[in-house]
Amino acid sequence: MYFRLFKLILIFICVNIIINVLYRLLLHSKTSLSMNKNDNIPLTKNNIDQISYSLEPFYIRLPNFSDDEAKNWFYNSSYYKINSKKCPEGLCEEKGILFNDTKEHLSVNVFLVKNGLYINDDCGYNYGATAVKRTFVSANETTILYDKAIIYTVPDGWAFQHFLDGVGPKLAHSKSYLQKYPDAKVIILQGVRFDRSVQEIWSMLGVDYSKRILHYLPTMKVGARLLINPCITPAIHPRLWQDARSMYWSISGILNRKSEVKRKNLIYIQRTSKNAMNRARLILNEEPFIKVLRDYCLKNSLNYVQYDHSKDTNHIRSRIELFYNAKIIIGVHSGALSNMNFAQSGTTIIEIMPYRQESSVLPMTCSMFRPDDLKACAGYILYTQAQLLNQSYWILPNVVNAKGNINLNISRVEKLFDKI
Ligand SMILES: *[C@@H]1O[C@H](CO)[C@@H](O)[C@H](O)[C@H]1NC(C)=O
Ligand SMILES: *[C@@H]1O[C@H](CO)[C@@H](O)[C@H](O)[C@H]1NC(C)=O
Ligand SMILES: *[C@@H]1O[C@H](CO)[C@@H](O)[C@H](O)[C@H]1NC(C)=O
Ligand SMILES: *[C@@H]1O[C@H](CO)[C@@H](O)[C@H](O)[C@H]1NC(C)=O
Ligand SMILES: *[C@@H]1O[C@H](CO)[C@@H](O)[C@H](O)[C@H]1NC(C)=O
Ligand SMILES: *[C@@H]1O[C@H](CO)[C@@H](O)[C@H](O)[C@H]1NC(C)=O
Repeated sequence: MYFRLFKLILIFICVNIIINVLYRLLLHSKTSLSMNKNDNIPLTKNNIDQISYSLEPFYIRLPNFSDDEAKNWFYNSSYYKINSKKCPEGLCEEKGILFNDTKEHLSVNVFLVKNGLYINDDCGYNYGATAVKRTFVSANETTILYDKAIIYTVPDGWAFQHFLDGVGPKLAHSKSYLQKYPDAKVIILQGVRFDRSVQEIWSMLGVDYSKRILHYLPTMKVGARLLINPCITPAIHPRLWQDARSMYWSISGILNRKSEVKRKNLIYIQRTSKNAMNRARLILNEEPFIKVLRDYCLKNSLNYVQYDHSKDTNHIRSRIELFYNAKIIIGVHSGALSNMNFAQSGTTIIEIMPYRQESSVLPMTCSMFRPDDLKACAGYILYTQAQLLNQSYWILPNVVNAKGNINLNISRVEKLFDKI
């Protein structure tokens, strides 16, 4: 009886495997067919391949609060006022905020367009349905013509922080094309600089800066015999962000394994008047603050690491490993905190959020005092990232002085460390 059931199951599994293999073979022959046709310039009707799938809806939980001041501050923010409408049955504390919009949060797409033409479209889920299918007929409609190209023109993708929050999630589902077409050009936006760490990540992905990168300017019309477009993809989704993280670990040689034993770093991301591009958001009473951190490390056998990105001349690989081994990451809101993208699930992230008491304009967050003026607030991007990465996030709002700097309330910091 049981044996027959077992046999049935076995047959079922075998049939499934065979169907799967056949299906893959078919798929593969389809793509290689369209590749061969690629050389014939006269367009056929069927010159676009679309590979799409849908991700699961996801929840973003509220931050952890160590005191009522933090909690009230967050509940008063326009971020909360906008997003709390999306908590199932109004249960924000229990369930979190639901992200379930098909286009904005769930739908992942790659378009392969024969004789595709790229003209300054925003690389994101709002990419136009017509623009994504744009083609050229003759080469004089282009200013640059490649055999193959892949579009990653997210805003400021040349900068470390925006590579991680913009390009990374798109690479997560499209990096296979970089390997499949090692001659394909990679199109990113031209910026005021091209961060060394970003160049190093591209290089680890097999994209040599001098050979494969095009810095796009709005005047360019880039044509490609095969234009690969991974843009129409959610900007935030835990699957994409965690896959991007695994990709960083994998290309830098860190095995994706549980290594709780090695997670020994408490990393303080330090903002100084030298390393910060805008001078505000400095901690004025840093000495007693650091003492709290060091004492905590002593008590819990952690390594205290003070991280100043401007002094880090190592290859990005070392930084990925440093943060991979983080147990706790703490710092004032700033781009350098986005190194949390290299840290494992369960890492504790503490973001000190500076805000102005009297003014309706908060340094990093949106207005609290005009509840009807609800704007999207970039200040919550690091909170969102920590949640996408399945980390444990704590927010510590602290008021700033007239110059935008912070006198941290040390007893609140101590209280927070008692709770984690
Ligand atoms: C913030 O919220 C608390 C209740 O959660 C309320 O008592 C307080 O007045 C609010 N403050 C501001 C500035 O809106
Ligand atoms: C997500 O939205 C769809 C409709 O678009 C709905 O059927 C589904 O129940 C929603 N999922 C959750 C978890 O609420
Ligand atoms: C572009 O090239 C095509 C033929 O390849 C020609 O018919 C057309 O006139 C050209 N257009 C311009 C603006 O030069
Ligand atoms: C989230 O992280 C915890 C460890 O903190 C782990 O047990 C859990 O499986 C993770 N969940 C997902 C969906 O990755
Ligand atoms: C709050 O902290 C707990 C304990 O560290 C953790 O399990 C949970 O994921 C955290 N919540 C958020 C929203 O990060
Ligand atoms: C620091 O925070 C505590 C609450 O934890 C509060 O009682 C105290 O007044 C604060 N100190 C200052 C200087 O704001």
